[in-house]
Amino acid sequence: MIYFIGAGPGDPELITVKGMKLIQSCGVVIYAGSLVNKEILKYAKKDASIYNSASMSLDEIIDIMKEAHNKGIDVARVHTGDPTIYGAIREQMQELDGLGIPYEVIPGVSSFTAAASVLKKELTLPEVSQTIIITRAEGRTPVPQEQTLRSLSKHKATMAIFLSVQDIDKVVEDLKEGYSEDTPVAVVYKATWEDELIFEGTLKNIAEKVKENDINKTAMILIGDFLGDIKEYSKLYDAAFSHNYRKA
Ligand SMILES: C[S@@+](CC[C@H](N)C(=O)[O-])C[C@H]1O[C@@H](n2cnc3c(N)ncnc32)[C@H](O)[C@@H]1O
Repeated sequence: MIYFIGAGPGDPELITVKGMKLIQSCGVVIYAGSLVNKEILKYAKKDASIYNSASMSLDEIIDIMKEAHNKGIDVARVHTGDPTIYGAIREQMQELDGLGIPYEVIPGVSSFTAAASVLKKELTLPEVSQTIIITRAEGRTPVPQEQTLRSLSKHKATMAIFLSVQDIDKVVEDLKEGYSEDTPVAVVYKATWEDELIFEGTLKNIAEKVKENDINKTAMILIGDFLGDIKEYSKLYDAAFSHNYRKA
């Protein structure tokens, strides 16, 4: 069996219990070395074969999985954050389908929720934003025309922008299409890692802060009024509001 496992955003304790137990039991571990914290490997068995996929091609990764499977060895395929977000796992699963090799996906804590946590913010606030857009700027990987930052910005929703901090000037310009210049923005570099850094500002000044500090990878850009002051409390704990579990 191949297990696609979310390692979480960085802190090795932010992997799920299930993910950790599977790493402990698998004979082969293939981890995405450019982003997964190597501390996660301490969960692996002493005699496990460990591969860093950062320098490998899809074929090479699949070959290791195939060989292990043929020997009856389970494989932990460890991706950063949650594997279903920019994890490039679908192509691996498709190849495994073709080979008739079974697999499971174990979710993880994504870096966008980790970034909100270290900022001590809630991504959804009543009257402010009830929608989270997870996206990225167009780079070498194209983005469908209906999903550009310019068009998505018009919703003024909470937005979590992955893989884009290296193009912060362009990101800011595009976001100005929909958000006002004084909309709060936070950039979190390596959320939950020991060398985590947080930059807070608005669309007016965030690019400057990011560039001054040479942040050009492994950062989450969060934008939206959820980063500002709270306007309304939720109904959930409102004493005057009845619901299934509580009478007003
Ligand atoms: C290939 S994507 C993988 C995302 C991952 N699957 C997730 O759910 O977080 C890599 C991008 O995720 C973001 N990222 C990953 N780990 C991060 C962290 N600890 N702090 C901030 N951003 C992070 C960055 O935008 C980075 O460029």
